[in-house]
Amino acid sequence: MRLKTIAHSPRLHLLYGNLRDSPAITRALKEAQPDEIYNLAAQSDVGISFKCPEETWEVNYAGAKRLIREAMRICPKARIYHASTSEMFGTTPPPQNELSAFAPVSPYGEAKLKAYRELVCGYRAKHKLFICSGILFNHESSRRGEHFVTRKTTLSLAHIKLGLQKSFALGNLEAKRDWGFAGDSVRAMHLMLQQKTPKDYVIATGESHTVREFVEAAAKELGMTIRWSGKGLREVGKDAKGRIVVRVDKKFFRPSEVRDLRGDASSARKELRWKSHTSFKQLVRMMVSADLKNVRQQMH
Ligand code: GDD
Repeated sequence: MRLKTIAHSPRLHLLYGNLRDSPAITRALKEAQPDEIYNLAAQSDVGISFKCPEETWEVNYAGAKRLIREAMRICPKARIYHASTSEMFGTTPPPQNELSAFAPVSPYGEAKLKAYRELVCGYRAKHKLFICSGILFNHESSRRGEHFVTRKTTLSLAHIKLGLQKSFALGNLEAKRDWGFAGDSVRAMHLMLQQKTPKDYVIATGESHTVREFVEAAAKELGMTIRWSGKGLREVGKDAKGRIVVRVDKKFFRPSEVRDLRGDASSARKELRWKSHTSFKQLVRMMVSADLKNVRQQMH
């Protein structure tokens, strides 16, 4: 939810906080006295983590540590959800589940893995803390940040459809992701904290698609067909009239890439009775129509 929306909701009370600032966390926890804590704060952009590795570590590992340690002191009975990520699996081949090996390839994945091992698994065993972690695969919605590949694609294609932009550029078109709806993932987070014992779960749809397939599906929702031609950095996607709408640009490639993510959420299905309610097609449709509406509104 956008901060503006949250601030205006009568059922929510916003407290100022900062994971880089222990006194700020202490004050917020003392004021809130929470029963449940959901730590979703992160430098969550994998690409940027290569450029800002220290900041990524500082927030995603050290920041989580500050929060969890202060929670243990101020509200030791609070149940804690900590956001882990499929990026921790890195090069481990799919399908990935809770028993799969971790092999991160980015500063983002490394910081998240350190937090998972030390603060989630470690503190749970050592301090008997009620803490669990969702190992979430990609979770998307119309509220997704505009630099992530799904939203970048739906927003750019909406601009192109309405004649406001000619083309846009992407990096690796072959990367495969297990894209689910963020709303489904949030339901799983809540379910985890309602269980008798704290445990970690992979949350995923079990289906993966390439970036290329996401582009094709989003274009199709707008009545556009993409035809690909050329190879590598010279590859382009053209519309039915032969106009270039997608280009490949090396600046969007990562120094090292997680090539193939597809989660096996059998444990969550069995123990949490959770499943994804949104298909890939529904997700793409939801994102495309929201962006089409957004762009139309901005035009008026
Ligand atoms: N962002 C971006 N921009 N990614 C691109 C682009 C581009 O122009 N072109 C290709 N990609 C590829 C990336 O290289 C990656 O393989 C894939 O698209 C998805 O990239 P993102 O949308 O940036 O997401 P992510 O998979 O790296 O990370 C997201 O999901 C993780 C869970 O698996 C983030 O939300 C992470 O915070 C989260 O942990």
